[in-house]
Amino acid sequence: MILAPSILSADFARLGEAVQAVERGGADIVHVDVMDGHFVPNLTIGPDVVKALRRSTPLPLDVHLMIEHADRWLDAYVDAGASWVSVHVEAVPHLHRAISHLRSRGVQPGVALNPATPLSTLEEILPELHHVLLMSVNPGFGGQKFIPAALDKIGRLKAMIHDRGLSTKIEVDGGVGAGNGKALLQAGAEVLVAGNAVFAGGDPEQGVRDLRSACS
Ligand code: DX5
Ligand code: ZN
Repeated sequence: MILAPSILSADFARLGEAVQAVERGGADIVHVDVMDGHFVPNLTIGPDVVKALRRSTPLPLDVHLMIEHADRWLDAYVDAGASWVSVHVEAVPHLHRAISHLRSRGVQPGVALNPATPLSTLEEILPELHHVLLMSVNPGFGGQKFIPAALDKIGRLKAMIHDRGLSTKIEVDGGVGAGNGKALLQAGAEVLVAGNAVFAGGDPEQGVRDLRSACS
C-alpha cells in the first residue's frame, strides 16, 4: 500500500510544515493537486509551489494535473521536481505523446479518469503507464463523498491489468478514508490518496498513522 496524502486539504499558508508532518507520520508520497479553473472549477497551485515543496521534503511528489492543455505544462512540472505525473484522458488529445514524453524525462507517467470516463479509454495506452488514477469523486475539491461505483471500477481495471500481464498501479483519489481504505485495497488499489481523512482532524502526522492502521 502506498499512502499519498493530498495537500489540497492542508493549510496553504503552511505547506512546508504540512508535508513534513505527513512525512513523520509515514506517508510514502505526497499528492499535489494542480487545478486551472477551466478543466475543473477550482484554481490551486503551479510549478513554483511544486518547486518549493521539492525543497521541503525528500518524499516523491505525485502531481495530479487537472488542467487543460496539460501537454504544454509537462516540462514545467518535471523541472519543478515532480516524481509521478498524472494527466487526465479527458484533457489530453495526444495521450501517447504526453506519456512517452514524461517517460523520456524520467518521471513515472500516469493517466487519470473522471468517474464517468470508461476504462475502455485505457485500452491502447495501458502498457505505457506506471499508474492509473481513478477518480472516485468529480475532481475540483477536497472533502467530497466517495462515489461507490468506483469500487467496481477498481476491480475491473485490476482484471484488465492482470489479464495483460502488466504491473500498472491503481491509484484511487477522492473520498478515501478509514471507512473504505481497506475495501479499496482488497478490490485492487495500491495507492490511496487522502486529503480530508489526513488533514481534517488538525494533526496530519497522526492522520496518516490512523489511516494506515485502519487499512491494515
Ligand atoms: C480532488 C483531488 C483530490 C482531493 C482528495 O479533485 O484530486 O486529490 O484532494 O481529497 P479528499 O481525500 O478530501 O476527497
Ligand atoms: Zn488528486
